Amino acid sequence: MVQEIDRGLERATEIIKEIDFPTLPLYLQMIQKEMSHPFPSFPKIAGLVSQDMALTAKLLRTVNSVAFKTKSHIDNVLQALTVLGLENFYTSVLAESLRSALENHALSADNFAVIWQHSTEIARACKFLAELISKSVDCGVQVNANHAYLAGLFHDCGIPVMAARFPDYERSAQEATATGETLTAMESRLFTTDHSILCYLIGKMWKLPDSVVFAMYGHESEDLGYCGETENRELGTILRWAESSVYTITEKKHCFLGEIVDPLVLTDMLRAELGIDELVAQEMQLKLKQEFL
Ligand SMILES: [Fe+2]
Ligand SMILES: [Fe+2]
Repeated sequence: MVQEIDRGLERATEIIKEIDFPTLPLYLQMIQKEMSHPFPSFPKIAGLVSQDMALTAKLLRTVNSVAFKTKSHIDNVLQALTVLGLENFYTSVLAESLRSALENHALSADNFAVIWQHSTEIARACKFLAELISKSVDCGVQVNANHAYLAGLFHDCGIPVMAARFPDYERSAQEATATGETLTAMESRLFTTDHSILCYLIGKMWKLPDSVVFAMYGHESEDLGYCGETENRELGTILRWAESSVYTITEKKHCFLGEIVDPLVLTDMLRAELGIDELVAQEMQLKLKQEFL
């Protein structure tokens, strides 16, 4: 088993090199450095982002979208930073940058659009559930909503990377779905690694928070032991719950085989990792449904 994981990691590392997938861009490194100061300069951070017009346009479109629920229209980067706050702002910039890197490496625009629609829905659900859980008096768990959003947004980022590297990936994925084979089983069988391992490596390369990296790593497994520490397992549980909930709410659209946990296993996960019983989980899922419809 350990040998299999090592082989999967080794192969995933090769794939990232083979398609020349970019590392964390310099401006994000500079923003991170500025953020580590006791009094970070907002104009300096906004200036670093504003230099890239394409990124600025995408960022403003995202922060004005439904996901961020800002009260007024935001029309420049400094305003976005002031309204959102540093952590939300950095999450948005990082998300847009990594999305662009993935989009540039997708096999086709259609292929990427399907993955991105799924990922955006899961990100919204993860953020919503994280906020709900953190506010709930029924469970004493605090989950960072930005981390939940990032985990949802990039939990399948290994898929476009595999599709970019292997021309027959899409066809193999369709065949696997038709025969009931999970995506990761097909990937391991044909390509010696799988997209959750690639997500893990890309998350590490782009310095995503550890809880995000490990939640993505374990997102296709029913064994949350893969995720490691408590915070990672909590986020891993939210990710599994979001996938299963969105699968039900959207009537099975844009979801992948293997990502939907057996309802009994999910109930156990929710109780063990988040302290949520079935009734509370049902109430929260109903709120999520209302948010989505
Ligand atoms: Fe996945
Ligand atoms: Fe997914």
